[in-house]
Order: sequence, then structure tokens, then C-alpha cells
Amino acid sequence: MSTSSTASSDFKSTAIIYRQRVDIALDHWLAKEQTTPTHLHGAMRYAVIGGGGKRVRPILVYAAGHTVGVEPAQLDGIASALEIIHAYSLIHDDLPAMDDDDLRRGRPTCHKAFDEATAILAGDALQALAFEIICNDATMNVDAATRLRLIKELTMASGSLGMAGGQAVDLASVGKKLDLEQLKEMHRLKTGALIRASVIMGALTGKECEPQTLAKLDQYSQFVGLAFQVQDDILDVISDTETLGKPQGSDIGLNKPTFPELMGLESSQQYAMQLHQQALDCLSGFDHRADTLRQLSAYIVERRN
Ligand code: IPE
Ligand code: IPE
Ligand code: MG
Ligand code: MG
Ligand code: MG
Repeated sequence: MSTSSTASSDFKSTAIIYRQRVDIALDHWLAKEQTTPTHLHGAMRYAVIGGGGKRVRPILVYAAGHTVGVEPAQLDGIASALEIIHAYSLIHDDLPAMDDDDLRRGRPTCHKAFDEATAILAGDALQALAFEIICNDATMNVDAATRLRLIKELTMASGSLGMAGGQAVDLASVGKKLDLEQLKEMHRLKTGALIRASVIMGALTGKECEPQTLAKLDQYSQFVGLAFQVQDDILDVISDTETLGKPQGSDIGLNKPTFPELMGLESSQQYAMQLHQQALDCLSGFDHRADTLRQLSAYIVERRN
């Protein structure tokens, strides 16, 4: 059994294949720009397709599915739905009423490329589209109960007890000192919830997915989800705008509570590595089919954007 813990060249080629898959699926599900109302559909496509998105959530869906023997073709709809919810969350995150950022994925943010009202509506419509995909995806060969469970997982992860709730805590925390537990809780919601849903939903469609397997994958996803946002906070400090494709220093400028601010840069980096190790430990009983999940955990803490 491999216990590889660094993001290898294997991972790079797997990630390319999964990114290509989900890009084709996203193109299929998003209405064409010529569809009326054209500016809304243009904004939706702009936010999802063509920028420098890493597609981490789709890769997690495919990798979690692979771990329990699910073919990628079964997962294109789920991967698309997760990326679409994520893209909507980014559109709204960048709005003047939230982080007020002008650059995303190396391009003007949606409200800069279009206008604020269109960006708000594009986010709204993308959220609805994600659920439409889970309801309508005919290539996903699951029974009605599993489809309902998938919808439930996505609603919980997106809503006030998931991503949207985390964003509310984030905004309410500006300029405040959170303690470590409060900061972790905020991150668990705003970023962790969708990452967790990616893993759970990817695995749920698998016939081999026993409750103990799902529980281990669930634990893995929580460590990876927290590591992801710790690294996001670190990169806001140490990276540069060109590499990030979004404004470096945005958190400091907005006086956001972050890991580097609370525990210092070096301790944050150590903490990210510790979370990566804990994620790997959750997969110790899994065979080689979990290697992409292992490598993805390494990628999350090693990434530069
Ligand atoms: C950025 O997410 C927002 C967070 C949840 C921290 P990503 O770093 O996954 O952004 P993209 O999708 O690659 O642009
Ligand atoms: C955004 O967190 C999380 C969501 C969009 C749900 P951040 O505000 O830290 O993300 P970036 O740094 O702007 O990508
Ligand atoms: Mg934000
Ligand atoms: Mg932001
Ligand atoms: Mg950030």
C-alpha cells in the first residue's frame, strides 16, 4: 500500500484528467451565453468557466468516488454541482458588501466584469442550478433515496449551518479577536462544509461505501477542509497577487481573523502540515485507490495559489 504524502507527478496528471472531465460537464450544464437573459447566462459562465480555478472540489469528488470503486462518469454531475456552488460563493464573497475584491482567478471579479446586480443574480441562479443538476443528472445511476441524500448533503453544506453560515460569521468577525476554537469553527463552516460534502457525496454513490468507510472519509475531509483554509490564509500573507489570481493581503486589509494573525505564520504552516498528517492517518486502512486523496491532501498544503 502506498502512503505517498507529497503531491506527485501522478497527482498532476490525475488532476488534469479530472479538471478536463468537469470542465466538459460544466459546459454542458451551463446555459449558453446566447440564451435569454444573455447577460445573466454570460455572467454565470464567466464565473465558472475559463478562469484559473483549481477545481479542488471536483477532484475531491472523483478521488473519493475512486476510493470506493465509483467510475468518474457517474460523478460528473456531482462534481459540477459542487464547483457551481463554490463559484457562486466566490461571486458573492467578492461583492462590495462582502470582501469587496476586484480580482478573481486572474480576471476581474464577476461584479466588475458585469455589474453588481447581475453578479448577485448569477450567484443565485448558480445555486439553483447545482440542485437542478443533482435532481436531473440521468447518467448518475443511483436510487431515489441516494439522490435525496445527495441533495440533503448539498443543502446542509451550502446553507446557514454550512458555507453561508460561515460567511456570516466571517463578516461578523471583522476586527474582532476570535480564539482558536472560534476560528476553527468559522473555517469548518465557510470552507470545510463544501469540501466535506465533496468527499461524502463522491463516496455516497458507491456500492462499497460501508458506514465505517464513510466515517473515515468524513474525518479525512474535515482535516483537509481545515488545512485548505489555513493554507488560504497563509497564502494571503506570503504569496503575491499574480500567483494567487486574487488580491494578496485582502485579509489584512479587511482586518479579518485568520490563522497567521492568531498563531503567527510559522505555527500556521506547522498546523497545516499537522492537519495533512491527520488526514493521511484517516486513510491508513485504505488501499492504493485512496492515493489520489492522499496526494490531494499534500497538494492542499503545498499549493502556491
Ligand atoms: C477560494 O477557493 C475560496 C476559499 C474557499 C478559501 P479556491 O482556492 O478553491 O479557489 P479556486 O476555485 O481555485 O479559484
Ligand atoms: C471565502 O473565503 C470562502 C467562501 C467563498 C465560501 P475567503 O474570503 O478567504 O476566500 P478568498 O481568499 O477571497 O478566495
Ligand atoms: Mg471572504
Ligand atoms: Mg474573499
Ligand atoms: Mg482567503
